[in-house]
Amino acid sequence: MPRAFLLSRRRFLQQAGAVLVAQVPVAQALARQPSLPQALIHRGLFTCELWIPPVMAGSLDASGVRHYRLSMAPGAQSLVPHLLTPTWGYNGDYLGPTVRIPRGHPVHIHLHNGLNQSTTTHWHGAHVAGDMDGGPELLIGRGRHYDYHYTVWQPGASLWYHPHPSRRTGPHIYAGLAGMLLVDDGVDASLGLPHTYGVDDIPVIIQDRRLLADGGLAYMTHPHDVMGMKGDHILVNGREQPYWKAPAQWVRLRILNASNARMYHLAFADHRPFVVIASDAGLLERGVPVRQLLLAPAERVELLVDLRRDRGRSVVLQSDSRSVVPSLSANPADSDRLDRSVFPLLELRVSGRRGAPGILPDKLVTVPALIPRGPTRHFVLRVKGMGHGMQSPHRMKSGAGETGPSGPGGMSMGLGGLDMFSINKQYMSMSVINVAVTRGDTEIWYVANDSPMAHPFHYHGTSFQVLARDGKPPPAYERGWKDTVLVRRGETVKLIAPFHQPAGHSLPFMYHCHILEHEDNGMMGQFTVLDTSR
Ligand code: C2O
Ligand code: CU
Ligand code: CU
Repeated sequence: MPRAFLLSRRRFLQQAGAVLVAQVPVAQALARQPSLPQALIHRGLFTCELWIPPVMAGSLDASGVRHYRLSMAPGAQSLVPHLLTPTWGYNGDYLGPTVRIPRGHPVHIHLHNGLNQSTTTHWHGAHVAGDMDGGPELLIGRGRHYDYHYTVWQPGASLWYHPHPSRRTGPHIYAGLAGMLLVDDGVDASLGLPHTYGVDDIPVIIQDRRLLADGGLAYMTHPHDVMGMKGDHILVNGREQPYWKAPAQWVRLRILNASNARMYHLAFADHRPFVVIASDAGLLERGVPVRQLLLAPAERVELLVDLRRDRGRSVVLQSDSRSVVPSLSANPADSDRLDRSVFPLLELRVSGRRGAPGILPDKLVTVPALIPRGPTRHFVLRVKGMGHGMQSPHRMKSGAGETGPSGPGGMSMGLGGLDMFSINKQYMSMSVINVAVTRGDTEIWYVANDSPMAHPFHYHGTSFQVLARDGKPPPAYERGWKDTVLVRRGETVKLIAPFHQPAGHSLPFMYHCHILEHEDNGMMGQFTVLDTSR
């Protein structure tokens, strides 16, 4: 695709976004309007249909175990029209199937590594033991496989899976390896929420990618990319800004920010309200109506959108980034053109009803209040930053000194293993256990951001609740189970989590920033959860 076309299209979008925002005063926000001028659609936007990843429900054996097979392999995919991009995927060219696992039933996942290098797969948000967690110690060599077997007892949730090798998680996810992992407990169906996959309940996996002229993935091609890799093509489920033929009823969007570094400030172009029903790791107590919502890398939300009166209309989900993203960093260079604009993500083309329509009940679930037991811990996030000591990417080798095979189509593996981003003045070291938690405790963790930019903080093996942001209660849509929380610059968040899953010294859990270039360059630590550590 000619560069000039892309640039002019983007400029056009920014102007269109500005016009839309200016013309819709808050008082009129409820009024339903056509979302984007027809002209925009004729400019080549929303030209391909949304791809819905197939469901993998596993096959039940005679002993009651559900079996799944996943294979990581190279492929090629048209991420943007007219270009073919060499990629990696699970059971396909890019991304992977939506793996559904039932709560309380044993599952067995056979994972094969058909790539040219070793990697892992981590079940982000799943309550599984350290030896099934797929962290960096559980490396699977090329041509090898690993058999994960576990039973999850957590509430129904939209989790995800992705590689987690030391220093190379960024390029491996960027190459296309990610998928949704849904824990099913039947509560959503019994509440009457939309729950028919692909009909009124869909995954919306948002990513951004930078491409070379020949279609190849460009990873960390600019020195500043170590602060967080961002691309100028916005993908939803692996296609650039697609459209979805939505039914004229309540629809449920399970939104996953699977980008390496970019945040999205979700909103509809017509400023309509939408209802947040779930945070990262489960349903909220009740739906929370909002008009916009910031989603950091690795965070998920489930949204209900009322399309009952929109038949025949085009409803556009967009990111109103410019109203919030530039304020998340003190360094203007950390936000790019998209971060300073309003850009579309997905068009909902609303047609007739399909199937039995879902409802939005008043009350969803009860989120239990937790009682702390055990030590309180403090984590401080810091950034050494660019400048002296930073070498240009051309002089750095990937994996800090290791030269290894490249990514799909010769994709660069970027920079990993630089000590640039720290937690408690420590940089990730596979030979150091940073924290020892006693199994059965419910700990309070304070995470303070002493750096000029925002960081999404995540930990393995459990779900947490956000008790406070700078001493104040968090917004209502954050008062549920989560596993990733955005910590703004200068901010301190107070989290509480029970630790039940065991993890020993050889296969510990991780806590880290989920901006993948920060994680790969120091901002990660390891913790054990053991019966005996007190
Ligand atoms: Cu999604 Cu340790 O990661
Ligand atoms: Cu995780
Ligand atoms: Cu970070």
